[in-house]
Amino acid sequence: MKTQILRDPTDSDLKLAAAILQRGGLVAFPTETVYGLGASALDADAAAKIFAAKGRPSDNPLILHLAHPQDAEKYAQITPCYQKLASLFMPGPLTVILEKKNVVPSSVTGGLPTVAIRVPAHPIAHKLIEYSALPIAAPSANLSGKPSCTTAEHVIADMNGRIDVILDGGASDFGLESTILLPTGEREVKVLRPGAITVEMLVENGFIVSLDKAVTEKLKDDEKPLAPGMKYRHYAPRAQVILLDGSPDRILAYMKGCSKDPSIAFICYEEALPFLETPNVLSIGSENDARMCAHRLFATLRTFDERNAIATILAPLPSKADIGLALYNRMLKAAGYTVLKV
Ligand code: TXA
Ligand code: MG
Repeated sequence: MKTQILRDPTDSDLKLAAAILQRGGLVAFPTETVYGLGASALDADAAAKIFAAKGRPSDNPLILHLAHPQDAEKYAQITPCYQKLASLFMPGPLTVILEKKNVVPSSVTGGLPTVAIRVPAHPIAHKLIEYSALPIAAPSANLSGKPSCTTAEHVIADMNGRIDVILDGGASDFGLESTILLPTGEREVKVLRPGAITVEMLVENGFIVSLDKAVTEKLKDDEKPLAPGMKYRHYAPRAQVILLDGSPDRILAYMKGCSKDPSIAFICYEEALPFLETPNVLSIGSENDARMCAHRLFATLRTFDERNAIATILAPLPSKADIGLALYNRMLKAAGYTVLKV
């Protein structure tokens, strides 16, 4: 298949991409979190093509992307909790799990009775949904098991020849996937995947927040996470990632001790960069700027993946505060939960 790559898409490009979605095609598009790989959520055959293009297990459900929060009513049972969340955080990097209506094919929700709803804020995503007049089912646009795509170049590397269109809207703003919430009461929500809408922001707005165990811990073989995707060794580069848990000084000392080994690469904070003399080191941002670190993480993992001699990546274990929790969760998963105390 020939993939059309449309850079800085104009309105007429977006209308063309919307028409391709209406005909059952696949379109990758930018959002404020990561790039998505979209198909009509009302067309079971089109949604099936997403699973094939990504190599994604069919029991892993897709998120429905809508233009307006109130459109959720057509596809799900909306609740006062959803309305409150929507009024505070939509459009934006938030996904809410609701009971699904019959119009949504069960292949889209991996056979679950619930459906994930998100209203992206990115203008290209918003217009694509509007012009298609469809709910767009979209997982992240990476090949299954690879880090999510935060630039069109990543999407081209994974999806060229597999899908109809790639819309290039530049680098994703946040760089990690949306926060996924399961409402469990009028004000109670459970975080299934942490993101830019943080626990602290929810608490500040009067929500009672709990964390699904899968956010911070490895589940046993017989345990099931509430978000099926959280069980896969996700976000993972080819090399083995090992997270170092200790003070900044001890982490730096440990990294310096292995910096002569050409098979080891280092992800560090800006503050440690001047002290590490190796070509295989990249900073993801200041220790005090989790937002920048989130923005750069996946691109950094992909950069090291292109260097074939690298077998191991050492990185500091991030703090769990605010946006740090999303970074902590993705880095733990990239590492397959391998943490070394130093
Ligand atoms: O930021 C994002 O959410 C990006 C952009 C493209 O919108 N999308 C994204 O999709 O990250 P994906 O498919 O890579 O991750 C969706 C996650 C998976 O872990 C999946 O298991 C979970 O959402 N999920 C989807 N529907 C669900 C449901 N009904 N119940 C529980 N978890 C669900
Ligand atoms: Mg994904």
